[in-house]
Amino acid sequence: MAPEKTFYLETFGCQMNAHDSEKVIGTLQRAGYAQVDSEEEAGLILYNTCSIRDKAEQKVFHRLNDYKALHKAGKRFGVLGCVAQQEGEKIFERAPYVSLVSGSASYRKLPEMLSRLEAGETRITGLDDRQTDETFETEFTARQNPYRGYITIIEGCDKFCAYCVVPYTRGKERSRTSASVLEEARRIADLGYSEIQLLGQNVNSYRDPDGKLSFAELLAAVGQVPGIRRVRFTTSHPRHFTKDIVEAIDAYPQLCDHVHLPVQSGSSRVLKAMNREYTRDWYLERISWIKAAKRTISLSTDIIVGFPGETPEEFIETMDLLAEVQYDCVFGFKYSARPNTPALVMIDSIPEAEKAQRLQVLLDRQREIQRANYAKHLGETMEVMVEGANPARGQIAGRSSQNKSVNFTWPQPIAPAPGTYLNVRITATHPNSLVGEAV
Ligand code: 5AD
Ligand code: SF4
Repeated sequence: MAPEKTFYLETFGCQMNAHDSEKVIGTLQRAGYAQVDSEEEAGLILYNTCSIRDKAEQKVFHRLNDYKALHKAGKRFGVLGCVAQQEGEKIFERAPYVSLVSGSASYRKLPEMLSRLEAGETRITGLDDRQTDETFETEFTARQNPYRGYITIIEGCDKFCAYCVVPYTRGKERSRTSASVLEEARRIADLGYSEIQLLGQNVNSYRDPDGKLSFAELLAAVGQVPGIRRVRFTTSHPRHFTKDIVEAIDAYPQLCDHVHLPVQSGSSRVLKAMNREYTRDWYLERISWIKAAKRTISLSTDIIVGFPGETPEEFIETMDLLAEVQYDCVFGFKYSARPNTPALVMIDSIPEAEKAQRLQVLLDRQREIQRANYAKHLGETMEVMVEGANPARGQIAGRSSQNKSVNFTWPQPIAPAPGTYLNVRITATHPNSLVGEAV
């Protein structure tokens, strides 16, 4: 094999990116490339980048800079993902040794872009923006996760939250047909997976182009694919969260008892400024539906503190919302201004130290909420799916249907394989994980 027919790929960012990389790897392998573990060994070095927060693009440029000497050894570089789409051809100016720049909305053209790369072309771009209606589907996905099969059901985003780059980096919202989603679910089950995670920036904005299934019906249908025992979905938007999603979870035990519903702020004034298209009360009404479900559905959320103009009182409203909802997991972030976004014109007036302090207060409070929530599982026996082993600690790592991390002891010398289901009795609890023994 020619050495240039090898690639190294590193992925940054969200689960969508992780799964895009699985598709990119499969596409490269199909084109005759072999994956290697380091930049040094590779003919083609690819970074699948994220630009959601902070100075994400700076990190990519630093990384490219760290390895630029390899260009002299004949290696080629490609930048994929959200920073690629955001910075576009500017990447060639700042890092002239990069030959390929492609955002996720152009990955369906990867085979063609690879041929051009092999023909010696430089400055190849895939920068389809919000015009594209097409999704990237491939049967060659190289699944990297040993226990969870990802399926993208909807790409892009049309919501334009004031702080968010995604509508600019991932293009406009476009759904796959339910028929192709179900076909992929069956293929995943045939590979031996029993857990599926449906992915989309706004997974519940899903609209079957064939008009056959609603999102809730698609959830139910994926849950009924033979061999599938757990179905997860992320990320849901409160504006489109409908009651039939909860009804589907009630009706099908395969649908996990966990909903991630980012609230971003507990203040209706801030939510309006964020262009979230819902109020605090609207959000809490959806939470009350979820709490009325037959099973206890675990809730998680994302919160941004220090959005431009957020007053101390508005921050307190977010704190009150935490106390009211009692989430099992909160991802908290300090607001950071991102290129192209509407919030850029708002004055980012809250000092960094104040944002950091609000975040700390929020996370400290949430830790106590979780300590109490997780403690309720003491003595319970629950079904856990094995994700891996931690031989150093003599423990197996797994996850409950509620998405809680469970570390447990296992009496036999050979660890159970990832994807195995076991009953575990909970013997100790922490704010972020449960400890137990296999029974
Ligand atoms: N600043 C801070 N947090 C952000 N997020 C998205 N954009 C920004 C930003 N500009 C957070 C949101 C989102 C999560 C994935 O990242 O909470 O839900
Ligand atoms: Fe990052 Fe958002 Fe792109 Fe995911 S979609 S990689 S979180 S910028």
